[in-house]
Amino acid sequence: MVRSTLRWWRQLVLALSCLLLVIACNNSSPTSTKSASSSSGGSSNPTVTTLKVATDPTFAPFEFQVGNQKQTQGFDIDLINGIGKAAGLQIQLQSMRFDGIIPALQSGNVDAAISGMTITKKRLDVVSFSRPYIKAGLAIAVQDSNNSVTSLADLKDKKIAVQIGTTGAAEAKKVPGAQIITFDTSDLPMRELGNGNVDAVVTDAPATLHAIKTGSLKGIKIVGKLLTQEYYGIAVPKNSANLEAINKGLDTLIQNGTYDKIYQRWFNTKPSPLPTSASAVAA
Ligand code: ARG
Repeated sequence: MVRSTLRWWRQLVLALSCLLLVIACNNSSPTSTKSASSSSGGSSNPTVTTLKVATDPTFAPFEFQVGNQKQTQGFDIDLINGIGKAAGLQIQLQSMRFDGIIPALQSGNVDAAISGMTITKKRLDVVSFSRPYIKAGLAIAVQDSNNSVTSLADLKDKKIAVQIGTTGAAEAKKVPGAQIITFDTSDLPMRELGNGNVDAVVTDAPATLHAIKTGSLKGIKIVGKLLTQEYYGIAVPKNSANLEAINKGLDTLIQNGTYDKIYQRWFNTKPSPLPTSASAVAA
């Protein structure tokens, strides 16, 4: 009788402690997910208060310099300044050659880059990108008098000018027998075309269209279809802790209408909706 009561008590204690264990486990799981999410929220805290941003300001209307003061302006510049404001970060622009931008991000010499830079799979191997901020694509430009070129194939054995390190340069390299002439800046290939020193330029359509529209380039036209569909993103060192703040700033500008205003200012039209992930659009 005493024994069986004892056994009964033991069983009760065992059952209760099992119950306590289950409750404890249940309790601990929400706490652990909470702490995980708050730590990922923590990474949205930028590591800097001044964001050093690289750009190659030879690419109107995205980034270019005007006047004696060499003030840098453009769509990208308005956008990054807006992002800085939304994210509480000072923006400090640093001009450099386009083909120096990725190395500068890799070495940590700059915190970010906005330079009409296409999100590509190859670049995603070495840097991270914000969500896409504009859609673009490559086009062929020739002199007005040229009626023999409408596609890349027509540029076989011809002279093509490109900016070094760009997607346009990579595309031009695919043309069999073509002589590719590379330039450090984005405006020089166009000038060469205008002067008749090359047969064509392969570069981003919005840049060529802008040059034609503003009259900064005369006697030049775009031919054929767009060669590619590309999206530009803001590049940062791989997995930079500043990426989340940049993306949040960009989200804010898209949601509160500032993005549309900036787009309207430089392209005089309404933007089309943007995808939200860099990896989904990598060219
Ligand atoms: N979108 C092209 C690329 O990413 C060309 C960009 C050129 N930008 C510039 N600022 N020069 O390769």
